[in-house]
Amino acid sequence: MNALDRAVAGLVPRLPRPVVGLVAKRYIAGETLDSALATARSLNAANMSVTMDVLGENIRHLDEAARTVQLYQEVVERIHSSGVVGNVSVKLTHFGLKLSRDRCAENLRTLAATAERVGMFIRIDMEDSSTTSDTLGIFGDVREVHPNVGVVIQAYLRRSESDVRELARTGARVRVCKGIYREPIDIAFHDPEEIRRSFLQLVEILLEGGSHVAIATHDEKLVEGAYRLLDRIGPSVQGRYEFQMLLGVREALRDEIVAKGHPLRVYVPFGEQWYAYSVRRLRENPAIAGHVFRALLGLK
Ligand code: FDA
Repeated sequence: MNALDRAVAGLVPRLPRPVVGLVAKRYIAGETLDSALATARSLNAANMSVTMDVLGENIRHLDEAARTVQLYQEVVERIHSSGVVGNVSVKLTHFGLKLSRDRCAENLRTLAATAERVGMFIRIDMEDSSTTSDTLGIFGDVREVHPNVGVVIQAYLRRSESDVRELARTGARVRVCKGIYREPIDIAFHDPEEIRRSFLQLVEILLEGGSHVAIATHDEKLVEGAYRLLDRIGPSVQGRYEFQMLLGVREALRDEIVAKGHPLRVYVPFGEQWYAYSVRRLRENPAIAGHVFRALLGLK
């Protein structure tokens, strides 16, 4: 982390809302479902599908979780009725995981049933390591009844290889990402090369095992590595993979992947909780904060 990144990371929580809003605009599809659907339509027109995320996490009361389910049900219905090519991504702490595991699982089941009725897939995002086992457990339970759910595995976690072997055995649909939270060295790789190695190994295990894999990264070394892997495995990967990128990030790389004919899905976060989300993301990844602020100040 360089000095500017460090300085920016320290400043982020004290920045006025409109300044954070300026930075966030590029990464968030507005506060409302209508604005998110407009973003989704323009991505669809550029040959990209979407996964929509209603911002929010770590709720404090179970009635907020019930509200989250309703919001997501509305998102599912509107994606379906508007003809947008997309699905949804959810965070289990937004569904009450930290308050009641059973109610959280019930909430996810309710949404999965709604999505199943319209033929839609739901992705369960992976949060920090305190949630990994519960997330995989709830995913497994709900998937037994509703096969239209998938999960995320983080390449930086040391446990992920064994988790992925089990997921591949059951044919689960898995998104592989590096992982965004700060985790201690005893449970997570910190070395960027080690994380990359783990990432490609996980993608390989899943593809070889017959799973559908979402390759979620903006790192061109990983994109290149994935191309090589897909080539080596051959035609059997057709229809069993897609690249995924976050809204507003590395759009040139995104366009290049699409131009090569690979399926690509954009993660589209939206909602009233944009401020908390943006501050957290900027603090968690000061290099990105520094990068964004340099651009804002015309330094790059
Ligand atoms: P890396 O961090 O090396 O980024 C490569 C380059 O991309 C950077 O140098 C920078 O230029 C640019 N970049 C990356 N992220 C950026 C950003 N946010 N803003 C601006 N520039 C950026 N994590 C998790 O723990 N659980 C999850 O469920 C998910 N879900 C998820 C879905 C999708 C579709 C994506 C793309 C990512 C996630 N992640 C996630 C986040 C993921 O774990 C990881 O933190 C980020 O993708 C950054 O890692 P990269 O592989 O992109 O490499």
